[in-house]
Amino acid sequence: MNKKILALVVGTRPEAIKMAPLYRALEKSPHLTPYLLSTGQHREMLQQTLAAFDLRPDADLALMQANQTLPELTGRVLVAMTGWLAAHQPAAVLVQGDTTTAFAAALAAFYARVPVGHVEAGLRTYDFSAPWPEEMNRRLADPISRWCFAPTELSRANLLSERIPAADIHVTGNTVIDALLWMRERQRGLTANPLERAARCGVPEAMAARYFGETPRRWVLVTGHRRESFGDGFEDICRAILRLAEAHPDLGVIYPVHLNPHVQEPVRRLLAGHPRIALVAPLGYEDFVWFMDRAHFILSDSGGVQEEAPSLGKPVLVMRTTTERPEGVTAGTSRLVGTDPEAILREADVLMSDPAAYATRAALRNPYGDGNASRRIVEVLERDIP
Ligand code: UD1
Ligand code: UDP
Repeated sequence: MNKKILALVVGTRPEAIKMAPLYRALEKSPHLTPYLLSTGQHREMLQQTLAAFDLRPDADLALMQANQTLPELTGRVLVAMTGWLAAHQPAAVLVQGDTTTAFAAALAAFYARVPVGHVEAGLRTYDFSAPWPEEMNRRLADPISRWCFAPTELSRANLLSERIPAADIHVTGNTVIDALLWMRERQRGLTANPLERAARCGVPEAMAARYFGETPRRWVLVTGHRRESFGDGFEDICRAILRLAEAHPDLGVIYPVHLNPHVQEPVRRLLAGHPRIALVAPLGYEDFVWFMDRAHFILSDSGGVQEEAPSLGKPVLVMRTTTERPEGVTAGTSRLVGTDPEAILREADVLMSDPAAYATRAALRNPYGDGNASRRIVEVLERDIP
């Protein structure tokens, strides 16, 4: 019997992480088969991330350009996806999240009358300026979709309030937890020396000895890349990091810097050369999970990190004013601090000097999933695509 082809479209780092477990689950299906289609919205970071899961795209549209603009990228994805769909005619297209790839691929599939499944449907801030442009991307992808795979009950409620039919919504958990648990399990057997591993990831030797040696000191993991923070927001983030390092003379900072030039420029200009701040290249997922596990806390504007941190028992200070992932805030793991240095410092001080508050915020929780989201998604697809 010829298996039905499902195109899993990925373009950026988080899409790769969240689609990888779904790809693996679909491989086991008796009558469906996954086809990994990369738009190449990210080049290096996508390839690095897929490699962590031993995956390679079945086809790569290779659309990234340096310093790309939203309209150019959207147009390229729409046109290239349309050509690919005409040539391959898959039974369905699966998109993930809220990127340009996810939205434009969903729209191309809609125009081609190919059914769409949206993985991670229903996340909302109800503020189109934050995150920008992601809030619009996901709002547009959901009504296009024949299947809305909502990670939580809250995301289902958001979809219902927008009159998405109840029958099209399936609460599955977030596949990022499948990926995280899989990656942690995979690391268990490894006995790599922490000092060597930190150094291999670009942490300078003196810092590696201090923060990964026999009596490791505390350090903070930082990531940041949101467009609405470009310019002043990023300057503020960098100033906050400098002030944090000054206020706590023992504290280290490890910051894998996103490859977007709007991020690279201010971060390198303001933070390079500090003896306790390590600016490293984006980390492969296996290394990033390892670092998250060892950080005292995390300072980030990332969506995926907000979802992973509760499962690792790591408090996150979220450098945003609003979040489509309020479950972590409700659970107590995440706290919104924006990009204002005063607010970041105030909240960081609590995590540095109040062990009781830290312990409460670091309790293990899984508000975003139990590790079985991919299996639930495949069950729905197997039922609906005979
Ligand atoms: C994109 C997504 C964002 C997601 C983020 C994850 C959109 C509009 N934005 O933001 O939702 O949270 O990815 O990281 O879809 N670059 C490289 N190499 C890479 C990746 C990026 O050089 O591997 C540089 C290029 O100059 C590229 C620029 O970064 O033009 C911006 O990449 P783009 O995907 O457009 O935006 P991100 O800020 O990465
Ligand atoms: N991540 C990674 N390497 C890094 C930084 C982040 O593998 O150097 C992972 C992280 O664990 C999370 C995902 O990338 O799963 C988040 O991606 P990003 O912050 O780029 O995008 P967002 O989630 O904000 O859309």
